[in-house]
Amino acid sequence: MAPMLSIVLVHERFAASYRECLDVVARERRYLAQVEALPLERIQAFVSASVADDAIQFFALDGERVVGWADIFPAWAHAISHCGSLGMGVHPDYRGRGLGTQLLAACIEKAWRKGLTRIELEARADNHRAIALYEKLGFRHEALKSRAMRFDGVYYDAVQMRLLLGE
Ligand SMILES: CC(C)(COP(=O)(O)OP(=O)(O)OC[C@H]1O[C@@H](n2cnc3c(N)ncnc32)[C@H](O)[C@@H]1OP(=O)(O)O)[C@@H](O)C(=O)NCCC(=O)NCCS
Repeated sequence: MAPMLSIVLVHERFAASYRECLDVVARERRYLAQVEALPLERIQAFVSASVADDAIQFFALDGERVVGWADIFPAWAHAISHCGSLGMGVHPDYRGRGLGTQLLAACIEKAWRKGLTRIELEARADNHRAIALYEKLGFRHEALKSRAMRFDGVYYDAVQMRLLLGE
C-alpha cells in the first residue's frame, strides 16, 4: 500500500512512536549527539510539555507512525530569547523523499510566527545531506567547531549555522 505521509504538530498520542524513530536515528551513532533515546516516561513528559507550550515541534507520519521530527526550542534567558535551537531527524527508510524539507519549513514558519528572529543549529561537518537541506532553506554557515563531537573515541568537527528573520 502507498504510504500516507503527512506533517503534523506535536501530540501526546505520538510520543511512543516518536521515541522509536528517535532511537533508530540515535543508534546510527553518526548524526545526533545522543546514541539512544531517553526512556519513554521522559519522552512522554517532554512531549506533554511541548503540547502545553504550543512548542515549535512537528512530526512526519506514515499513517500513525512517526517517521521524522523537527523542533526549534527558544532559549529561556531574556537576552537570547529571540534565538531558537533546531533539531531534526528522519527515519533512514524515509530519507530523500522531501520530509526533511517539509518538517523544517513548518518549523521555520512557526518560529517566525511565534516571534523568534534567529534559528541556530549545529551539525557534524560530514553530515552533507543535512547541511545541504539547511543551505537550501537559507541557513548560512557561521563557524566550524573543532572536535565538537566524539563517537567511540573518534572526534568530529561540527558546523554552526543560522537563519535570521528577513536576511
Ligand atoms: C538530514 C535529514 C533530516 C534530511 O531529511 P530528508 O527527508 O532526507 O530530506 P529531503 O528529502 O527533504 O532532502 C532535503 C535536501 O537534502 C539534500 N539531499 C537529499 N539527499 C541527499 C544525499 N543523498 N546527499 C546529499 N544531499 C542530499 C538535498 O539538498 C535535498 O533537497 P532537494 O531534494 O530539494 O535537492 C535526514 O537525512 C536525516 O534524518 N539524517 C539523519 C539525522 C540528521 O542528520 N539530523 C540532523 C542533525 S544536524
